[in-house]
Amino acid sequence: MSSLSFEIVANDENGYARAGRMQLPHGLVETPVFMPVGTQATVKSLTPADLTDDIQASIILGNTYHLMLRPGADLVEKMGGLHKFMAWNRPILTDSGGFQVWSLGELRKIEAHGVRFRSHIDGREVFLGPKESMDIQRKLGSDIVMAFDECTPYPATFKEANDSMQLSMRWASECREHLPVNDTQALFGIVQGGMYPELRLESLKAISEIDFEGIAIGGLSVGEPKEEMMAMMDALAPHLPKEKPHYVMGVGTPDDLIEGIDRGIDMFDCVMPTRNARNGTLFTDDGKINIKNLKHAEDKRPIMESCNCYTCKNFSRAYLRHLYMAKEILSSRLNTLHNLHYYCDLMSRARNALVEGNWPEFRDNFLQRYRSEA
Ligand code: GUN
Ligand code: ZN
Repeated sequence: MSSLSFEIVANDENGYARAGRMQLPHGLVETPVFMPVGTQATVKSLTPADLTDDIQASIILGNTYHLMLRPGADLVEKMGGLHKFMAWNRPILTDSGGFQVWSLGELRKIEAHGVRFRSHIDGREVFLGPKESMDIQRKLGSDIVMAFDECTPYPATFKEANDSMQLSMRWASECREHLPVNDTQALFGIVQGGMYPELRLESLKAISEIDFEGIAIGGLSVGEPKEEMMAMMDALAPHLPKEKPHYVMGVGTPDDLIEGIDRGIDMFDCVMPTRNARNGTLFTDDGKINIKNLKHAEDKRPIMESCNCYTCKNFSRAYLRHLYMAKEILSSRLNTLHNLHYYCDLMSRARNALVEGNWPEFRDNFLQRYRSEA
């Protein structure tokens, strides 16, 4: 039995957008999907029950880098794997550590078979490469394992982007050799290539020639202007293998997600809804609102009238502003509930539009409303 089966349910006739069903060992994921980020074996401030019952998240993301340093992959394995350890019984995708190691800057040194770096927690030296990352993700027991890659910094010269991409492609085959096809875990390859369409296409070709269960696009949302990110997705869209799921890593705002779906993307993750919730930024169909703003002080309305989340069904903007100003821990929790509900519900609205055959209308109406000042 294959660890992943993916089936397309509906297509936009004139474009690349599609709705699908992805079956994984821990359950079914309907796409397009947003995966809440649970870096340290927790989606900050929420319980698994919040994620299943209110937010209806079908898959979450965990991180090799953070978990290998603390509490350690062996400990998670001893505790029965990541699902059991955090009491989450739906699918989990784990990132490989490539991106997090890259974010360390000064503290890292890239070698042929991986990266040597110092732990940001206790300063000890650690080595992480394709083989190590596969072993760790095996111990964590995630449904989807990400290949170990290097996220090319922005900006990068053609040569820098090319060298970095070639290294990631060598590492991608090493990952596949280490984690065989038709195993209990699915493995996704990651397309790199900086902001150079020709490198992106070469990378996609290399990734497509290896038998990965899914195709990810990395190295986006790294400081480049939005037009460059869209140009890279535009370049790749016609060439993404249709029968496999497509995942853009670390993207983005609600309008980025809609633009991504329009370019054939099925899966997204981003810290934005969770991180922004904790600093008082809330997402709505009319754009972002900042709950700190004095204009919400006496506002009896919920964050968004049409939202069915626990926060919107029970609390006013005035109360949420008060919690934020008083630095109450409930503020983070209620704001995170709304933002993740909003992101996951937006994906199910997009899916419905695709199934009902009115994607272009849905997309245009959403983008127009989201981008015009409320
Ligand atoms: N998360 C966001 N971007 C990237 C990337 O390029 N590589 C990996 N592994 N994770 C990411
Ligand atoms: Zn809400």
